[in-house]
Amino acid sequence: MNIKTSEELFARARKVIPGGVNSPVRAFRSVGGTPVYMQSGNGARLIDADGNQYVDYCNSWGPLITGHRHAAILAAIQEQLGRALTFGTPCEQEVLLAEYVIDLLQKRIPKSQIERIRFTSSGTEAVMSAIRLARGFTGRNKIIKFNGCYHGHSDSLLVKAGSGLATLGIPDSAGVPAGFTAETIVLPLDDDNAVAEAFRQHGSDIAGILIEPVPANNGLLLQRPEFLSHLRKLCTDHGALLIFDEVISGFRVAPGGAAEHYSISPDMVTYGKIIGGGMPVGAFAGRADIFAKLAPDGPVYQAGTLSGNPVAMAAGLAQLKLLDATAFNHLEKLGARLETSFNKLSLKWQASRIGSIFWFHSGQPPRRADQIDSGASAIYAKFHKTCLENGIYLAPSAYEVGFLSTPMTETDVDQLVGIAGEFFRNA
Ligand SMILES: Cc1ncc(COP(=O)(O)O)c(C=O)c1O
Repeated sequence: MNIKTSEELFARARKVIPGGVNSPVRAFRSVGGTPVYMQSGNGARLIDADGNQYVDYCNSWGPLITGHRHAAILAAIQEQLGRALTFGTPCEQEVLLAEYVIDLLQKRIPKSQIERIRFTSSGTEAVMSAIRLARGFTGRNKIIKFNGCYHGHSDSLLVKAGSGLATLGIPDSAGVPAGFTAETIVLPLDDDNAVAEAFRQHGSDIAGILIEPVPANNGLLLQRPEFLSHLRKLCTDHGALLIFDEVISGFRVAPGGAAEHYSISPDMVTYGKIIGGGMPVGAFAGRADIFAKLAPDGPVYQAGTLSGNPVAMAAGLAQLKLLDATAFNHLEKLGARLETSFNKLSLKWQASRIGSIFWFHSGQPPRRADQIDSGASAIYAKFHKTCLENGIYLAPSAYEVGFLSTPMTETDVDQLVGIAGEFFRNA
């Protein structure tokens, strides 16, 4: 496989960009080899700098649910480019996206409490702001998070965070003073008693529970619906806020995200990825009484130079409007085909899936980070290479999930299952 241009670019990048990359997992450290430099994308396909083609199951880590360069998204961006790139003032596009999202969530999430939304430029900012608001609203300090859930790289949440940290084997990041995480309580997923016990001990000082309702940053650790309901009940009973981090699951596992899928109404929810249509957008949303505490209405400060950027808002709205019942049915059909046809092979490795998110793992589907087979990474590295050589681009880490997109076909999925089946049969 010729990746000469990628190799040259990476060598140059390493001289000016730390590790050669602008986000750690991109460096291919856990799968080995040189990161592939992509040059263009079209629908479900990528072309790299040396002209190699791939079916894209990374999809920019989730945002591209409608694939690359969907005509409707490009048209919306073009239209806005004719007006301005950014104003730093309020603009119509942010109102349109906010109205669309709130209306969608109120229709799709049973008893939705999502009444206000504030846009940011990344998922990290969205979650960081949501927990600040939870603390400001409740007047309490502690936040519960779960081992293996990643919520972006803000200081207080970089504890047992999965994602790139799982790949790199760093449970905590250097540079984060212990005091910054002292108010973060880390608990195992899937453990009702551990959460109940935390409330027994600290109940009056717990501002909220933060969880990826579909934990998808340390493999895919699908939770029992009863566990999520238990969290809802504990929060209600103790006056704490339930915060769903739906940066990955939002608008993907259902139009209304995991809140709709599990019929659980969180007090606050965070978004990123899909909501920006491929542009940098995050958002946090929730009850009106909570958001009354956010600046400028209230004392909890939060801001952003490019927040609500009109080009990004236009792209996000265009993508969300594409996600109709036909799109969701197609993604569900593809996902089910991938899961059942691979698992029918009855190999040691299996596919876990929810909607258009999938993950290959060894053994039974784990629910907690500590149940993941630690030997899987070495095997995955070889699988990743095999896929690249066969024109399939997967995320370069055993702990990262794969994403389907609407332009994919049954033939694409069958090709992946064929290659995965052959590889894992001999692994
Ligand atoms: C669940 C979750 N929360 C937050 C983030 C952080 O988002 P961003 O990378 O846009 O800062 C991510 C990123 O992958 C995520 O998966």
